[in-house]
Amino acid sequence: MVEVSASILSMKNENAIQTLYNLETSGIDYFHIDVMDGKFVEADTTSKMLEYCEYLNSISNLPLDVHLMVEDAKSYINSFLVFEPNIITIHLESAKNKQELLEWINYIKENNVRVGISIKPNTKIEEITEYLPLIHLVLVMTVEPGKGGQELLLPTIQKIKDLSDYIKQNNLEVDIEADGGIKPENVNMLKEAGTNIIVAGSSITNSSNFKETVAKLKG
Ligand code: DX5
Ligand code: ZN
Repeated sequence: MVEVSASILSMKNENAIQTLYNLETSGIDYFHIDVMDGKFVEADTTSKMLEYCEYLNSISNLPLDVHLMVEDAKSYINSFLVFEPNIITIHLESAKNKQELLEWINYIKENNVRVGISIKPNTKIEEITEYLPLIHLVLVMTVEPGKGGQELLLPTIQKIKDLSDYIKQNNLEVDIEADGGIKPENVNMLKEAGTNIIVAGSSITNSSNFKETVAKLKG
């Protein structure tokens, strides 16, 4: 059974509070917090995500799955640590060098948070294999990071399969999270490829019955 992490990026602002409440009671396992700095990706969602996390911390016990699409990860890690997230994921492509990436990984772990590395669709899994023994999960982007509501890029499914095979062959304890364009119609491909956690945003928040959609995603 996969876990579902609901992205709140595409949520309409006008009824955000009601939407968050409906998500809370829909059977999701995490709230997926998409933090964008306007540099690593074009959009800047920082203040909106900080506001949503403030609110979620007051109404929800569900764990936060923070996805940092930012250049200066250290300062954003600090900004979101206050919400005691369950997961903080950084992008391999945002680190200047190996040393900086290792510093971020260690800093997140020292703060008792699960650490993930995210890779864009064109980044090869060979570029992260050396870090797998040090992290809790890999967030495989199944769309280009930067916005919700995109179509899943099919070549990323094979990448998840290859990563899953590598993790098994090397007896590693690393979860695979897939993120972008995921809906009930394509979720089985991700499950069969070895995904443990799926991120879904618009396929849930655009649906008329969140609980039903989440149940279909979990299958
Ligand atoms: C994109 C984000 C994803 C996105 C998922 O940069 O990382 O989490 O919001 O939204 P959907 O499910 O609508 O593609
Ligand atoms: Zn995301």
